[in-house]
Amino acid sequence: VSKAYAEAEQRGLISGEVGRGTFVVDRRRGVLNDKSQRQSIDLALNVPPATGAEELVAKTLGEMAADGGAAALFDYLPHQGLREHREPMAAWLADRGIDAIPDRLVITHGAQHAISLAMGLVAPQASIVLTESLTYSGMIALASTAGYRLHGVMMDNEGLLPEALDSAFAETRSRVLYCMPSLQTPTGAVMSEARRDVIAQIVRDHDAYLVEDDTYAFLFESSPHSLTSRLPERSFYVTSFAKCLAPGLRIGAVQTPEQYRDRCINAVRATGWMAVPVMAEVVARLIINGDLDRQVALKRESAARRNEIACQVLGDWITPLSPVAAFHVWLPLPAGRTLTALVAEAARAGITVAPPHALRPNDLSSLGIRLCLGAPASESILESALIKIRQILENAEAISLV
Ligand SMILES: Cc1ncc(COP(=O)(O)O)c(C=O)c1O
Repeated sequence: VSKAYAEAEQRGLISGEVGRGTFVVDRRRGVLNDKSQRQSIDLALNVPPATGAEELVAKTLGEMAADGGAAALFDYLPHQGLREHREPMAAWLADRGIDAIPDRLVITHGAQHAISLAMGLVAPQASIVLTESLTYSGMIALASTAGYRLHGVMMDNEGLLPEALDSAFAETRSRVLYCMPSLQTPTGAVMSEARRDVIAQIVRDHDAYLVEDDTYAFLFESSPHSLTSRLPERSFYVTSFAKCLAPGLRIGAVQTPEQYRDRCINAVRATGWMAVPVMAEVVARLIINGDLDRQVALKRESAARRNEIACQVLGDWITPLSPVAAFHVWLPLPAGRTLTALVAEAARAGITVAPPHALRPNDLSSLGIRLCLGAPASESILESALIKIRQILENAEAISLV
């Protein structure tokens, strides 16, 4: 019900006013044409805050048209992606402490595609896949398409709990773990180096494969060592240029274990031939001329400012799990409240929030909402949305009405 509210609000079919309730919008009055009236503030989608990346991409496309660089990119090109693109991408990852090897890097249509390719190689249809107890919505979507049975593993402030992971492997006989050790989605947890050592060993002990989603690693000044670096022979390392540049580029990459390289390249062929070379060229040029690093610095600064606003406005209602500012913060569900009520009340106040998909329905202590701070067009819009969220949290009566 709460999702339907949020969706209807986003489509401009209903509008809500605090204290009055939710009303169906009268289309004949042309309210839908008035953007300011119909658009809710989106705190559900994890988009990066605007830092001028679109302008940079447009400028680069202009340069490519002018210098003829684009012309050769409209052909059928290697499925893996051009070496001229993989090399700068690998070098960029290496600067972040990732052991990236151009020969084993496969350029994909975003991280979502990379995850889906990796899973397709190691997780047979209908098999059990282990994930954190709350996981990325794209994994849920993939599981419902491929028929994977997701099994949530309990977490603490550092992400996956080693004992819980060990028993989950033993109980389910699963051979695949998908996880996000750095700035986990949706909680924002960051796994310590010591915990990473233990988790990697458990994966090895159970002869399993790992799909490591490191989409947010660029937000660290000094990125923790990946799980992949501990388990290169059984890990797929997933990265993306959606969050450090722009989601619409649809460029990501996966580094495969040596023995899966050729099968992964064939899987790209089977699912789309190749990632769009023009967009991969844009990314490669921005890496080479240093603009990507400048964007990363701006994204980190923006994330830090937006987190500060969230902490100031929401105070004790949130407890960020990491000193590194992410684009999302975790809002634990206060005792005695329901997610449905929180989502519905937020929709009434013109704010879209989405509850995560809990994979362990009995684990009520882990319920909450991921607040994505990047989408609001300005920091003041974000602040006003968070103030409304705080008012909803403070108004216990309203929140218990649904
Ligand atoms: C954890 C995580 N992985 C993967 C993705 C997908 O990234 P892309 O847009 O590159 O497919 C997202 C996007 O929200 C994400 O949050």
